[in-house]
Amino acid sequence: MLVLAATPKINGSHSPYSSSFLSQSPVSQKPKPNGNNLTLPSFSSYHSSSPRHCINMASSTLPISQYRPFSAPPRPSPSPFSAFLGTHRLRLLRTPRVVVGNWLALRALVVSATTTKMPKRQTPGRTGGFVDEMRAVAMKLHTRDQAKEGEKEPDSPPVSKWEPSVDGYLRFLVDNKLVYDTLETIVQKAAYPCYAEFRNTGLERSKNLVQDLEWFKDQGHTIPEPSVGASYAHYLEELSEKDPQAFICHFYNIYFAHSAGGRMIGRKVAEKILDSKELQFYKWDGDLSQLLQNVRDKLNRVASSWSREEKDHCLEETEKSFKYSGEILRLIVS
Ligand code: HEM
Repeated sequence: MLVLAATPKINGSHSPYSSSFLSQSPVSQKPKPNGNNLTLPSFSSYHSSSPRHCINMASSTLPISQYRPFSAPPRPSPSPFSAFLGTHRLRLLRTPRVVVGNWLALRALVVSATTTKMPKRQTPGRTGGFVDEMRAVAMKLHTRDQAKEGEKEPDSPPVSKWEPSVDGYLRFLVDNKLVYDTLETIVQKAAYPCYAEFRNTGLERSKNLVQDLEWFKDQGHTIPEPSVGASYAHYLEELSEKDPQAFICHFYNIYFAHSAGGRMIGRKVAEKILDSKELQFYKWDGDLSQLLQNVRDKLNRVASSWSREEKDHCLEETEKSFKYSGEILRLIVS
């Protein structure tokens, strides 16, 4: 079943009019008087009493009697394709999270993406590992006009034909702020120890977005409330607590999409409506390609302890990542 988050719950502390939205994590219930946005929320309703690990059972050091599986709900029974797929090295995707039609299409996509010979990376250090598989699945979900490896039919005009508005772009930035706040809080909190690997990667965007929103405010623009991004933020919070492989998929796609197509979109939008002003959202301290490579290495390390089934489960989440991010992207032209 394609499980989507319930109706967005927009908490008062998200209000962009309050300084708390511009400085505070969305999952905190109350702004800290000292404005320290790294202070973590309680999440007590989610907490389990035992620590959870981003590792599979085979690599756990716990005795089986004490092993507490981290991943999600039981997978459904094998499909009619399992006889064929069982012989395939990937032994694909048994999950309850997609409806049948989508499931078949997605299964085909992941089989195809993960069996496609990985292109040799031109960039030093970008070879091998699970990130190549994540990237291959993501690239196939692009349309041809978005990226040359894309395979989807376009259902909307290419970015070059977009007619963005400042109001729409602000909605996009506000929703992104909420999503990045959420991701950054999740890795600080580290419900699964492996999330802690992704603290302070240098890819964080929250503080940069605060500066951008403040700039727009200074220009006299009204900063809107978050909209579709609130559903995504809520979904990410839940996923991070119960399904680390799926969460890591979103983590990868959000940060890497922004550093690739996202930057190109930002440039084109700025040319059209901001007199080419480069926002902080598109600036990183240090060498971006090195920061990205460091995160790829960490992702590869974390995924190296996953079973094939867990890896496939992660890959399978890519489509949902595109769906949610696509909704936020469309705000630019809303
Ligand atoms: C209009 C929408 C989009 C455009 C124009 C676009 C464009 C691009 C381009 C040009 C690349 C670089 C391809 C290359 O390395 O040769 C890229 C990479 C990528 N995109 Fe997108 N994209 C869009 C939406 C998305 C969305 C919604 C997601 C997922 C949330 C996404 C995820 C990725 C990922 C994971 C990469 C790989 C980055 C890397 O390897 O460093 N993209 N995209």
